[in-house]
Amino acid sequence: MEAPLDDLERVKTVDRSGMLEVQMSMPEALLNARRLAEEFLERGEVKGLLEEEPSALVVAGMGGSAIGGELLRDWLFGSSPIPIHVSRGYQLPSFIDEMSLVFAVSYSGNTEETLSSFQDAVSRGCRTIAVTSGGRLGEMSARHGVPCLRLPRGLAPRAALPYLFLPLALILDEMALVSGLEKELEEALRVLRGLRREVAPETPQADNPAKLLALSLSHTIPVVYAPRGYSGVALRMKTQFNENSKVPAYRAVLPEAFHNDVVGYEGPRELLGSLSAVFLRDGEEDPRLRAKMDVMRGLLEGRVRVLREVWARGEGRLARVLSLVFLGDVASTYLAVLYGVDPTPVESISMIKGASANPL
Ligand code: PA5
Repeated sequence: MEAPLDDLERVKTVDRSGMLEVQMSMPEALLNARRLAEEFLERGEVKGLLEEEPSALVVAGMGGSAIGGELLRDWLFGSSPIPIHVSRGYQLPSFIDEMSLVFAVSYSGNTEETLSSFQDAVSRGCRTIAVTSGGRLGEMSARHGVPCLRLPRGLAPRAALPYLFLPLALILDEMALVSGLEKELEEALRVLRGLRREVAPETPQADNPAKLLALSLSHTIPVVYAPRGYSGVALRMKTQFNENSKVPAYRAVLPEAFHNDVVGYEGPRELLGSLSAVFLRDGEEDPRLRAKMDVMRGLLEGRVRVLREVWARGEGRLARVLSLVFLGDVASTYLAVLYGVDPTPVESISMIKGASANPL
């Protein structure tokens, strides 16, 4: 019998809105995002905004649009000279002022919380940049004279990740807040292209790490564990399982999880048997953390249904972060195929957005 994920017709029929195809084009989307960002950075009003070093960087957005900020934080975990804060909600935190650089990011441009944060940023006099494919955020930024980085339309917000992450990184590069981005990006693209061959739909299940991950997680509730420098990546993986595969999934960060989460695995076997634990690894963890991670894995072994390690690829932080994201993204789509659900629509999100007390 054919392995279920090797039936390309079935993959296409279930993934009818084409999530996999968009995911597979991540390297090209990153290059396109770089071009858009470079054009944006040529604009006089943008140059003016970036002249002085900000005291903090804030990414205000929700869901798929906030993940770019999370990845920025992961990528620069050990090197950012200024705090990077991801703000999800109606209001910015009180420490944000006119010295802060705020990215108001909403792919659709119509997310209530982000529009409210945008207004908050403008009224506090923050240096603000809008990132959107249009919608109300596009209109409001024009009205307030706020530079707007326009993204291509027609994607699911979470599938627009290359556009929601790389331009932010390039803007930091322009302000000399990061170093070596160009070299890191080159390596990341090389790593992603190599990984793409491995996870492509044409690559048989037995040799395909994304298909194997999806198969092992099938009929379980995934819990993704990661060291702090990959907490955004783990959140991305969890949310991709939620939104693409349409399953509950959770994320916990190490070493904090050693101090609470782990005790849950002393619980009733019938509950634990429905969980899978996925550990994100990069081989360069602090040895103190690694030793405890080994103990934790030992505690989980035989209690959870599935225990997996997923390893980052590449040397640089950017390649490692993006390779894990890529593998998780594709695995979440294969998992959707196993469940027979189209990964793209997210009806529950639309329903909740539609229940706004103050509709657009
Ligand atoms: O992935 C999704 O579709 C969601 O998480 C959205 O990103 C979230 O609802 C916010 O919408 P937008 O990205 O358009 O601001």
